[in-house]
Amino acid sequence: MPDSQLRVLLGEELIQRRIREMGSQIAADYPDGRLRLICILKGACFFLADLARAIPRDVGLDFMGIASYGKNQNSSGQVRVTKDLDASIEGADVLIVEDIVDSGVTLQYLTNMLEQRHPRSLRIAALLDKPERRLRKVDVAYVGFEIPDEFVVGYGLDFDERYRNLRDICVLSA
Ligand code: IMP
Ligand code: MG
Repeated sequence: MPDSQLRVLLGEELIQRRIREMGSQIAADYPDGRLRLICILKGACFFLADLARAIPRDVGLDFMGIASYGKNQNSSGQVRVTKDLDASIEGADVLIVEDIVDSGVTLQYLTNMLEQRHPRSLRIAALLDKPERRLRKVDVAYVGFEIPDEFVVGYGLDFDERYRNLRDICVLSA
């Protein structure tokens, strides 16, 4: 997918190496029981697939759809559930798997909503974190990479539904 507006920020090998480290750490932090991974669609789908396989234990998978960005690069500030979980999370050890924490609006909304379903524990794993952009405080237990305030695409992340299938994470400049 050649495009002159793309610059590689995090290459495929670096991403995969970091995800293997995250998987080992997560496995060590949950020594017993079954862990439920909740993938936030669509951006986290590749991260979920690689992270789940990097955790050498029994994990359950579920998926949640959240509407966030539209055609521009700014969050609308409005969060809407477009697809709910298939199963109850009551009493479960739950790990939210998200592509990126930007303003924090999405994850704050999501954690408040999921806490009301009484999981045994609830943590967040995000591949990317843009701390400069934070408007809401969110506690992210596992962060893959902190990145500067630039709009990125690839490895699940899109701009107007494009670039999700790039293997690298790239900066998209206008
Ligand atoms: P927040 O609610 O502002 O934290 O936004 C979180 C969501 O915005 C993420 O799940 C992404 O879907 C999207 N997002 C934030 N920054 C970027 C980016 O740099 N590239 C692509 N999507 C982004
Ligand atoms: Mg997303």
